Amino acid sequence: MQPLKLGVAGLGTVGAGLLKLLDAHGERLAAALGRRIIVTAVSARDRNKDRGVQLDGFEWFDDAAKLAASPGIDVLVELIGGDEGVARHAVEAALGAGKHVVTANKALLAKHGVALAKLAESRGVELNFEAAVAGGIPVIKTLRESLAGNGVSRVYGILNGTCNYILTTMQEEGRPFAEVLKEAQDKGYAEADPTFDVGGFDTAHKLTLLTSLAFGTEVAFDQIDIEGIESITDADIQAADDLGYRIKLLGVAMMTESGIEQRVHPAMVPKHSAIAEVSGVTNCVAIDADFVGTLLMVGPGAGAKATASSVASDIVDIAIGGVMPPFRMPAAKLQPYRRAKLGQHQGAYYVRLLVEDRPGVMAFVAKQMADRGISLESVVQRRPRQTIPGGGGRPEAGQPTPVVIVTYETTEAAMRAALDAIASDGRLRSKPQMIRIEKL
Ligand code: NAP
Ligand code: HSE
Repeated sequence: MQPLKLGVAGLGTVGAGLLKLLDAHGERLAAALGRRIIVTAVSARDRNKDRGVQLDGFEWFDDAAKLAASPGIDVLVELIGGDEGVARHAVEAALGAGKHVVTANKALLAKHGVALAKLAESRGVELNFEAAVAGGIPVIKTLRESLAGNGVSRVYGILNGTCNYILTTMQEEGRPFAEVLKEAQDKGYAEADPTFDVGGFDTAHKLTLLTSLAFGTEVAFDQIDIEGIESITDADIQAADDLGYRIKLLGVAMMTESGIEQRVHPAMVPKHSAIAEVSGVTNCVAIDADFVGTLLMVGPGAGAKATASSVASDIVDIAIGGVMPPFRMPAAKLQPYRRAKLGQHQGAYYVRLLVEDRPGVMAFVAKQMADRGISLESVVQRRPRQTIPGGGGRPEAGQPTPVVIVTYETTEAAMRAALDAIASDGRLRSKPQMIRIEKL
């Protein structure tokens, strides 16, 4: 059988990882598949960069789109990144030329996934993207193939390794945000622009692909409510610990009576739940489905080896043969996305306020909540750290004091209205912090 010829565009963390994997497992794969998988051509920006891999014998292309259309390849493996520019041109060029594409690029698929799937289907080629969601966890195939006989009601999880690494390290080691982010970048977990990670956009890119596969809807990145982890402070992490929670950046997609709720935000999860135990760069994806029940998949969400593992599985599928629509059903048959209003979301909330320590402030805050039908589970006035040593303990009158409130279940609309009323009164010393407590 003819070898399967790969053109690899992008030789960074994942691209170099893939070359190492093919080096380590090429012979075994060839024996198992009855055909060899060989890299014939590569593309990156800097031809002279030492990538720790041997590039001799591969045709070099400065232009990834030219590589994509080259007659010397059967498959374009796009590992450049970005939702436009060279990555998009290369993928379109490859599909247009009737070549299979494997990509880890969730940003591209979140924006152009349906159009690219239509193009792939029209040419009868594969567009595979296992590595685009949750790194090494095989969740795309799980939703696309293994759960085809189920109705899915919810899919959620920790989908960004960088954020989970930051939140876990802040919690366990008390180290500052910026220092831990730098470490995640050095380890190759973060996106080229790390605001995609910490701002929640990378999680949203991934979530929107899971949503489409889970519910058979068009990819709808612009319909997600997104909050990142930038506003999470040491005070929130400590308060969560005291209350029996951990803070995780979650992506959640669930079917409701009024449409699909798709949201990305920091959430409090019970300290002893399985999801709370997912630490460091590890990701997890939970799927609630009607026949199988709940599945929880846990594994490395980023990094060279884990991501290359998923890219390799997509390549092996192509080597075996057979073509499947990228989003399980023909892209033209995906249903329009119907968005549930976040204001109707029901849940409990954690709120941290910095208020003036004056008589009547707590009563005012409680009244704003009560006026909107919000019942409070606990209210704790937390002394600022500097007042604790040396006794005394009470700050001077008028000094800011943190107050932590946990509510019973209410609606997001009521919660936001109460916080707007509290914030507009002038007794607050900073913007209220609100974190949803997730029902698992
Ligand atoms: P990276 O380390 O920044 O590597 C990007 C590669 O693309 C580099 O080799 C770079 O060339 C090359 N490149 C940039 N612009 C180019 C251009 N105009 N033409 C040709 N090549 C160009 O990125 P990465 O972390 O490997 O990520 C690659 C993709 O995988 C992204 O879509 C990312 O979201 C996704 N992904 C990454 C991970 C992870 O853990 N890192 C996990 C899952 C998915 P030079 O090396 O010459 O600069
Ligand atoms: N930047 C991403 C993360 C890479 O940290 O999870 C994996 O998609």
